[in-house]
Amino acid sequence: AIQRTFSIIKPDATKRNLTGAITAKLEEAGLRVIASKRIRMTLEQAQTFYGVHKDRPFFGELCEFMTSEPVVVQVLEGENAIAKNREVMGATNPADAAPGTIRAEYALSVGENSVHGSDAPETAAEEIAYFFSGLELVG
Ligand code: CMP
Repeated sequence: AIQRTFSIIKPDATKRNLTGAITAKLEEAGLRVIASKRIRMTLEQAQTFYGVHKDRPFFGELCEFMTSEPVVVQVLEGENAIAKNREVMGATNPADAAPGTIRAEYALSVGENSVHGSDAPETAAEEIAYFFSGLELVG
């Protein structure tokens, strides 16, 4: 089925001018960018967005990193978009990411791992609604 998923191009990637290269990989995988904006995430947004991780030891570091430089938030649409995006991103830890994936090619570490992608339909809907209004999604 056609799905929508939420993607973030993270600070380590925007800083290295990889927005275009990463977006090209998403598009080559058959995902359509139906919304995109470059934002400086606030600490409050990062803490809310990553709320499920608030008790993890890396939570503080994660939120600090996500607010350290601009990010590009995007909504991707396509057949099986959630799984397809996760496939093209590769494993969270770039050391485990399959060759050719975004994280294998560009990520620096498990924290500075270049991209985020929703993990399920419910989280995709929540994450999209947190950063975009319905009018901003142009399919
Ligand atoms: P993401 O998909 O954005 O969702 C949660 C993030 O936490 C994950 O990507 C990683 O970048 C980050 N993360 C996971 N484990 C660690 C860790 N051990 N140290 C720092 N960040 C981590």
